[in-house]
Amino acid sequence: MFFYLFVLKKNNTFAYQIDNTMNTTTNFMDLKIKSPIIVGSCGLTSDIETLKKIEQAGAGAVILKSVFEEQIMQEMTKNVNMSDYSYSPESYDYVASHTQEQSLDKYVNLIKNAKKELSIPVIASVNCISASQWVSFASKMEQAGADGIELNMFILPSDVHLTTDDVERFYEDTIQSIRRAVSIPVSLKMSPYFSSLARVAQKGSWMGISNLHIFNRFAQQDINIDKICTEPANVFSTSGAFPRTLRWTAILSNIIHCPLTAGGGVHKKEDVIKLLLAGASSVQVVSAIYEQGIEFIQEANDLLKSWMQEKGFETIDDFRGKLAVEKNDKSSTFHRVQFMKYFANID
Ligand SMILES: Cc1cc2nc3c(=O)[nH]c(=O)nc-3n(C[C@H](O)[C@H](O)[C@H](O)COP(=O)(O)O)c2cc1C
Repeated sequence: MFFYLFVLKKNNTFAYQIDNTMNTTTNFMDLKIKSPIIVGSCGLTSDIETLKKIEQAGAGAVILKSVFEEQIMQEMTKNVNMSDYSYSPESYDYVASHTQEQSLDKYVNLIKNAKKELSIPVIASVNCISASQWVSFASKMEQAGADGIELNMFILPSDVHLTTDDVERFYEDTIQSIRRAVSIPVSLKMSPYFSSLARVAQKGSWMGISNLHIFNRFAQQDINIDKICTEPANVFSTSGAFPRTLRWTAILSNIIHCPLTAGGGVHKKEDVIKLLLAGASSVQVVSAIYEQGIEFIQEANDLLKSWMQEKGFETIDDFRGKLAVEKNDKSSTFHRVQFMKYFANID
């Protein structure tokens, strides 16, 4: 069945013919999803009505807002004052763990409701600061019915006493513990801040994870020079983040041993096609949904289908990774980093 997509570009209207039978199925965390577009973990994915609209717009899967150990701990200290329990530390422990349970129960209910209302995969996301809590949190997500778990892991490498090995061991130990504790697929959401990014990514992919997700984006700070104080920087990414995601997708996709989700700086509909060509199996979007609306998902799906048709590709596997860097090929343009005139085309 065909229909037309009209796109307005600088006062010109282009009509794309879309074959709606085009197969955009892809692999995400060992699950078959109908569209490679995934809405990543954010405030939008903590609300059931919004999640339903995201599904209707054609997203392949959703990653729920992370549950943060740090936030739960803060709620505990806010609700439970240690001095009230100085006569009985056991009572403190009991009330503190009850508060933690209540916070987790809210998240468990979100998973259960999302599973009841949606037919696309619902992925839970956990962010913990201590290794032991990751395992218990992840088990609760599995019991609640999540189709998979994303590990939103990051240690800001600002402690001069922590060696590269210490940081990497934390990631490895945590992945191993969680893989042992749950049987649902696990995805690792990585940051770009590793001294040997390719090695860490490959090692992570050998540890039984079902998906690697690049890159996480973090809350950042700015300085207000009038008030002479710090303040939160813009929470949304810009297109400026996209070339880094594209480069690492092209470099990592052939050297890791699991499917790759690429995200970070996806603001144009054609970015989805570019990341698939670079070897991603799925593409994660967040800021563009906040800024351009949920329609972004359907428009990007439509563009993908019309482009596949125009180029004669019937499935995503027909073109996925066509522009990825081959294993051990250091001559790819994605390896070029210096602004030499010959490559940058500018003096
Ligand atoms: C408002 C907002 C909230 C977010 N919350 C989370 C979160 O809870 N857990 C997480 O792993 N990532 C979170 N992220 C990061 C996104 O999932 C995503 O990785 C990042 O924004 C990069 O994608 P983008 O360029 O499409 O925005 C959040 C991002 C935004 C903008």
